[in-house]
Amino acid sequence: MGSFVDVPKLALLDGRKMPAIGLGTYLGFDKNGVVTSKNKELRDVVMDAIDMGYRHFDTASIYNTEAEVGEGINMKIDEGVVRREDVFVTTKLWNTHHKREQVAVAMRETLNQTGMDYVDLYLMHWPIGLNEDYSHSDVDFMETWRGMEDMYRLGFAKSLGVSNFNKQQLQRVLDEGTVKPVALQVEVHPQIIQEELINFCKSEDIVVMGYSPFGSLVMRYGMQFPGPKMDDPVLVDIAQKYGKTTAQVVLRWLVDRNVVPIPKSVNPKRLAENINIFDFHLEQHEIEKINQFDSHTRFTLPSFWQSHPYYPFEQVKDPIADPFRG
Ligand SMILES: NC(=O)c1ccc[n+]([C@@H]2O[C@H](COP(=O)([O-])OP(=O)(O)OC[C@H]3O[C@@H](n4cnc5c(N)ncnc54)[C@H](OP(=O)(O)O)[C@@H]3O)[C@@H](O)[C@H]2O)c1
Repeated sequence: MGSFVDVPKLALLDGRKMPAIGLGTYLGFDKNGVVTSKNKELRDVVMDAIDMGYRHFDTASIYNTEAEVGEGINMKIDEGVVRREDVFVTTKLWNTHHKREQVAVAMRETLNQTGMDYVDLYLMHWPIGLNEDYSHSDVDFMETWRGMEDMYRLGFAKSLGVSNFNKQQLQRVLDEGTVKPVALQVEVHPQIIQEELINFCKSEDIVVMGYSPFGSLVMRYGMQFPGPKMDDPVLVDIAQKYGKTTAQVVLRWLVDRNVVPIPKSVNPKRLAENINIFDFHLEQHEIEKINQFDSHTRFTLPSFWQSHPYYPFEQVKDPIADPFRG
């Protein structure tokens, strides 16, 4: 196991603080739906992660991991290793609970699952509302935001934010909301550097959290995709200079751009590797070199929702079939 890493924190615009790296806990999905943790594997990963210095965990009601994330944290609180206020839990409202009154139902379930009195950051997972049968619902995401504001006022969510919103949609939340979103969680890796969105968020003091930070460096959906790999010469060159791995260089590239990476790993060696990135930083020309991989490639592209009025991304010619609707 690696030694303890004291992770720095970023200030949020509501005065709270977010640890600069989070542990992703989405285990993926296969033909049977969302992959679940077996034999409390994820709970044990969370406990190991806390011992290594992780203080930020990213989950979502749709991941089916809230319970083990909460259990791992609560066990470490019981052991006296951390206090609740030392840990930052991000979770997300799923698309089937976008009506204002449904948000409270979803929040109650999240608190039940995690065994917690509050979550630190509650994100709207997508601007897209769906009915229970996954047909499209035209509920306005601002109605959903009102429901999230209710949760904030009741103290169940200490901070609010959004995920997978485009700039115009985020602007609407800023214009029409009564509570400001403190964070935007979007896909960020060398092939989608999100320069414009990051600059916009910076101008509004909104923290960007970067999901799928390894992009094409790792297999996705059991496949290799085009794009830089772990042995890419540009990345290897930088890694050798700092005595780091290419995975660490990519995570540091996010940190140096003020993005909070949320790498997922259930492997103790890689967990330790991914957090061990706070003893070096990249030079501007190195950041720019990595920026050149940008090809606006998304690995999360739910084109089956693209006829939805609030679909946030560019349209594609041949949308894939919705795996959730059968
Ligand atoms: N808001 C959203 O819509 C959204 C969408 C997608 C993801 N997310 C969040 O972002 C998190 C991370 O994204 P992700 O899971 O898509 O991708 P990721 O973190 O970029 O990649 C995870 C993959 O990389 C492997 N890995 C981890 N560290 C490694 C290392 N140092 N060297 C080599 N391989 C390594 C993992 O395997 P091992 O586990 O075996 O190490 C796993 O297969 C998710 O878990 C979730 O919390 C949010």
